[in-house]
Amino acid sequence: MSDSQFTIAIDGPAAAGKGTISKAVAARFGFAHLDTGLLYRAVGRRTLQGLEPIAAAHALTPEELEQGDLRTAEIAQAASKVAVIPEVRAALVDFQRAFARRSGGAVLDGRDIGTVICPEAEVKLFVTASPEVRAERRFLELIAKGNDISREQVLSDVKERDARDTERSTAPMKPAEDAVLLDTSDLSVEAALEKAIKVIEAKKPAQ
Ligand code: DC
Repeated sequence: MSDSQFTIAIDGPAAAGKGTISKAVAARFGFAHLDTGLLYRAVGRRTLQGLEPIAAAHALTPEELEQGDLRTAEIAQAASKVAVIPEVRAALVDFQRAFARRSGGAVLDGRDIGTVICPEAEVKLFVTASPEVRAERRFLELIAKGNDISREQVLSDVKERDARDTERSTAPMKPAEDAVLLDTSDLSVEAALEKAIKVIEAKKPAQ
């Protein structure tokens, strides 16, 4: 690793707090941040438009990640479905690894960052929370954005996605052996962030 390379891998299920923690950690340390779920969401959106998933993964451009709202319930399910396909995952590996090794430090959040994309990451966190807590958080987010969806639907979507993401044979969601587990079920955003920062500071070389 060169002096300015430092990778933080943050994995975990939907709505556990990965995104919030990753953004805050990146801002705090001045690192770049990649939400890798957006890659699968962009491919998922393309399949909803009729494209074949592997071709869509190969054709993906970074600009596409910023076009339109990728954080809808429908696109989340489509993302989880394309994420099962090994060739889709393989097509997205180089982009993620290059991002992880950019100089100046990087935070990547997803499902397989600590296990497959960056097994050599300097810090690995696995952020989790109970399905009920996660579904409630996601429900409030979706409602605030004007989505018309019920609590029950969000909970069943979260459970369906958890099962698919955990049970797939290629790069299933699981904590890396050397990941630090962070359960945010009973933690405020501030408390969860404080714990994450402590873990990172313990591993970060002094400046
Ligand atoms: O983090 P998210 O909810 O935006 O992710 C959407 C889907 O993409 C998720 O259900 C599974 C897939 N995904 C993945 O398989 N690997 C990643 N590193 C990130 C997301």
